[in-house]
Amino acid sequence: MLARNLRLLAVLAALLGGGALLAGGELRLPGDHSGFSPTQPIAFSHRLHAGEMGIDCRYCHAGAEQSRHAGIPEASVCMNCHATVTARRDLVVAEQAAATRDGREPRTVVAPELRKLYRALGLDDERQRDPALAPQPIEWVRIHQLPDFVYFDHRPHVLGGVACESCHGPVQAMDRVRQQHHLSMGWCIDCHRSRVPTVLPFAAAPEPATGLPAGHPATVSIDCATCHF
Ligand code: HEC
Ligand code: HEC
Ligand code: HEC
Ligand code: HEC
Ligand code: HEC
Repeated sequence: MLARNLRLLAVLAALLGGGALLAGGELRLPGDHSGFSPTQPIAFSHRLHAGEMGIDCRYCHAGAEQSRHAGIPEASVCMNCHATVTARRDLVVAEQAAATRDGREPRTVVAPELRKLYRALGLDDERQRDPALAPQPIEWVRIHQLPDFVYFDHRPHVLGGVACESCHGPVQAMDRVRQQHHLSMGWCIDCHRSRVPTVLPFAAAPEPATGLPAGHPATVSIDCATCHF
């Protein structure tokens, strides 16, 4: 605990030295990124995949339950489907109809955005390895990013029953992901404060302030050291 507090003091000193702003009674660092919605290297749509097709968030972000970070899926996860799905179904069906009408073999229809996925893996339009194409990682642009001096972990939240949507908004309705909340300290604390009674049943030690019986875990906390150590 002492070590944690010393580290917190170091954080405070670094921040004050680094010029944290005290404006209008609100202490915050420059950089409210709510509304941030950068263009991504591939126009991947959550509305289509998580909304219309109903793919579970955890299919691609399994880390949210298993590690601190939710993680961005590898291209190989996309290939579970896109090794065969090369374009929207209506375009494939239209090409098949045209081929039948013209009495020829249907051509492979490859959506331009999926071609980028194949190129990233060094594959040609037939999804065969092409030695002329060097595989290159897809450089997804990071959207949500807390400063280094804050400790955040997806696990207690997700396993504690806080929905992805509470913190990320209706991602399943977004074609392009947009940061919904400003991720300020006040935002974290407001929820922690409001949840203290409701989450106690998940905890492991008695919470003196509430007088609830032992066997209740007080993991939702507004102690500085919960998020800064
Ligand atoms: C088929 C895979 C897939 C599914 C399903 C999926 N995602 Fe994603 N998610 C991605 C990819 C790829 C990115 C990175 C590109 C982007 O931002 O769109 C991403 C990015 C995100 C981000 C932004 C990450 C950052 O940089 O801050 C959030 C938040 C997110 N997803 C939440 C969700 C939620 C919530 C669901 C369920 C409603 C979900 N995702 C379902 C693949 C998926
Ligand atoms: C569980 C299966 C599945 C996974 C996993 C999946 N997709 Fe898809 N995706 C589809 C299907 C099916 C369609 C076509 C939907 C339609 O017919 O309208 C599609 C459509 C697309 C499109 C639009 C294609 C067009 O015609 O414009 C893009 C781009 C795309 N996916 C990218 C990705 C990326 C990138 C990933 C990995 C992060 C991914 N998908 C993971 C099933 C999947
Ligand atoms: C209690 C709020 C909260 C909940 C609930 C939550 N997230 Fe997050 N998420 C965050 C914060 C804060 C960040 C930024 C973390 C950082 O910078 O270390 C983040 C970052 C992400 C990222 C960016 C990459 C990464 O590895 O961190 C993805 C993807 C993501 N969340 C997906 C999800 C999904 C999917 C769920 C539900 C299964 C979910 N989140 C639930 C707050 C939350
Ligand atoms: C929408 C509500 C909500 C928001 C927003 C939220 N939290 Fe939490 N947080 C919770 C709940 C609920 C728990 C307790 C879960 C449990 O019972 O294990 C928790 C627990 C934690 C824990 C304790 C983990 C442990 O193992 O003791 C940390 C650390 C944490 N949150 C950090 C953050 C940070 C940092 C932010 C802001 C970036 C944040 N939280 C935003 C609801 C929230
Ligand atoms: C539930 C999580 C949480 C708790 C508890 C918490 N903080 Fe923070 N704190 C944050 C987050 C998240 C940020 C980053 C805010 C940003 O980037 O705007 C932050 C930022 C800060 C900053 C930088 C200035 C600012 O507001 O951006 C200071 C200083 C700070 N915290 C001190 C403290 C002290 C002192 C306590 C105890 C009284 C405390 N924090 C408790 C999450 C928390």
